[in-house]
Amino acid sequence: MSRESIVITERHLAYVVAHAPRPDAFTRELRRAAEAAGIPPIWISHEQGVLMQILLRLRGARDVVEVGTLAGLSAILMARALPPDGRVRTIEVEPRHARFAREWIGRSDVAERIEVVEGDARSVLPAFADASADACFVDADKEGYPVYVDECLRILRPRGLLMVDNAFGFGRIVEPGRPDSAVAAIAACNDALAARDDLEALIVPLGDGCWVGVKLAEAERAAAQ
Ligand code: DHB
Ligand code: MG
Repeated sequence: MSRESIVITERHLAYVVAHAPRPDAFTRELRRAAEAAGIPPIWISHEQGVLMQILLRLRGARDVVEVGTLAGLSAILMARALPPDGRVRTIEVEPRHARFAREWIGRSDVAERIEVVEGDARSVLPAFADASADACFVDADKEGYPVYVDECLRILRPRGLLMVDNAFGFGRIVEPGRPDSAVAAIAACNDALAARDDLEALIVPLGDGCWVGVKLAEAERAAAQ
């Protein structure tokens, strides 16, 4: 291995966490309550949330679209990185998750900035206007990723921020053999993202791998060739 990259071990990750901002009492409580309510504990790590907040602040994002609300944690973290008139439209197909998320978002410091849209993102996203979001975060059923990512790239404004969770397919993306349908969908989505010429993007090896990309403006696309 060259000296360009080290292989991140558990101890390195612990070091990252030890040097990251600590989660606040409210989101710690939210995680505990979500787990107690039987919501699958597949929400983003706090440090991934911090990365997303940094990127949103740098972008000066105001309008955010999220596919997959789950317990509402990522929507709350993202909303905190927006100006007071910012908004997160977050889509959730599972009524039980939407109900939990609405309750906790309602109690959060950013309730006014978040709208939970209950429904299947396959039918919700097409109603969102072209170039109407500064950032999108995809973290939902993996079979839907190719559709969600295409829709998000339509909805993003030029220079908009795209983030897509689980690029490592629950860690299994590099395993040999036939992947299951979720990992296969992620693999197809990863290949498609890497091949797009209207996007400059990279998998950041935090959590289960998170795509971070910027939708290129027309002039930038020509210059990037
Ligand atoms: C699963 C889904 C996720 O979005 C995630 O971050 C981790 C696990 C899952 O479906 O198992
Ligand atoms: Mg995820």
